[in-house]
Amino acid sequence: EKAEIGLIGLGTMGSNLALNIAEHGHHIAVFNRTRSRTDAFVESAGSLKDSIVPCYSLEELAAAIRPPRPIIIMVLAGKPVDEQIAALRGVLSNNDIVIDAGNANFRDTMRRFSELSGSGLTFIGMGVSGGEEGARHGPSIMVGGTEDSWKRVEKVLTAISAKFKDEPCAAWLGTDGAGHFVKTIHNGIEYADMQMIAEIYGILRDGLGMGPKEIGKVFDGWNKGRLNSYLIEITAKVLAADDPKTGKPVVDIILDRAGQKGTGKWSVIEAQQLGIPATAIEAAVAARVLSSIKDERQAAEKAYGNIGVAKISGDKAALLKDLELALFAGKIAAYAQGFAVMSGASKEFNWNLPMPTIAKIWRAGCIIRSQMLDTMAEAFGAGGASTNLLMAPAFITMMKEAHPSLRRIVARASEVGSPVPALSSALAYFDSYRQGRGTSNLIQAQRDFFGAHGFERIGEQGAFHGPWGSGAGG
Ligand code: 6PG
Repeated sequence: EKAEIGLIGLGTMGSNLALNIAEHGHHIAVFNRTRSRTDAFVESAGSLKDSIVPCYSLEELAAAIRPPRPIIIMVLAGKPVDEQIAALRGVLSNNDIVIDAGNANFRDTMRRFSELSGSGLTFIGMGVSGGEEGARHGPSIMVGGTEDSWKRVEKVLTAISAKFKDEPCAAWLGTDGAGHFVKTIHNGIEYADMQMIAEIYGILRDGLGMGPKEIGKVFDGWNKGRLNSYLIEITAKVLAADDPKTGKPVVDIILDRAGQKGTGKWSVIEAQQLGIPATAIEAAVAARVLSSIKDERQAAEKAYGNIGVAKISGDKAALLKDLELALFAGKIAAYAQGFAVMSGASKEFNWNLPMPTIAKIWRAGCIIRSQMLDTMAEAFGAGGASTNLLMAPAFITMMKEAHPSLRRIVARASEVGSPVPALSSALAYFDSYRQGRGTSNLIQAQRDFFGAHGFERIGEQGAFHGPWGSGAGG
């Protein structure tokens, strides 16, 4: 019996995806550059061994798979992907499908897609979210490629994906780079989500002087309510954990310097290219960058006399409620931005991205899965969020309830000196978005003053200039 699908690259993610596929009753042919890793993988597969076909050359791999052959490559993003595609070209034939399941930049995916088209082969850029655990037991899968290529792999991918109730969290989202673009925005939102959680943690730790265990309990409580989500759940778990070496809470022995591999930054770059504000995501990326310059921050702390964070006094229960609602409101604004970026990209790249489907396949399996995504799926399904998530009736109701808390928390945090870049960006975005009359009339006047750029008059057609007189014109 021929294998249904192939996989190259038996690192953690690749191995887990392969085991997941085997467990769902599909034969899978696997290949790794180092032979010993392939053998070790098959050895470790236990009872799933019978569904795995180890291959020791690309020729062997191609011969083992039922045509048209779908082959997942799970290698390091970047050059290794191009090298792997080049090597596969020699052994594959018409209609075979190369699937890049890594975190590729969608622009690379579009390039690879067009490079392969015409060669008879086709390419799928597949976003996979859920970390190692997800890959093994059910990730969220975002596919970009031709519809025909999707049909060839649909059965396997829906089988191995996470399920929300009975619905698979895998879908075809559009051609060429659509899947990897959506995964990138997923990660951008993931950055914003994580940053806002960290900001709230900062207020609890420094403003209220709470310890990790106590903060963990707060998050655990929130996870049972409207903030219910994977990231809140793991935050509670992380805060409860102790370091075996020192006996201290783990969070207290971890250096406050965040890493990043690029997807957050790409979301922000693309948002800027498209002219769509994604300020909460930008703030989250910038916060990671600032976190990484620890030495400089320590020097600045000295230079400014260790102002620290002042203690927050007052009704603690009321403050905790505000913090919960502030996080909720900030999160809504960040998602509104992420979805707006996707809708801009959808037009720009002619993808016709299905927003309700995207919200649906993010309800389980992926890192940002949450109760709120179910509400978003409903809102997009009902068409109420087509301009912006903030205009969906359900979200208008939620924001009306939550924004006063976000306002109070941002104000309070600013007063005591606890940085809240993502939460405050989210608030500023919301306030600007809901302001029918803004302040850019002044900017237009300034532009006209120094550069004669012209402005529109209220209620009149055409371009006008101001009565600036001498001194105008820069
Ligand atoms: C996921 C995650 C994952 C990503 C990391 C790391 O959806 O499973 O987004 O794909 O690689 O979370 O991202 P950073 O290293 O940039 O934080």
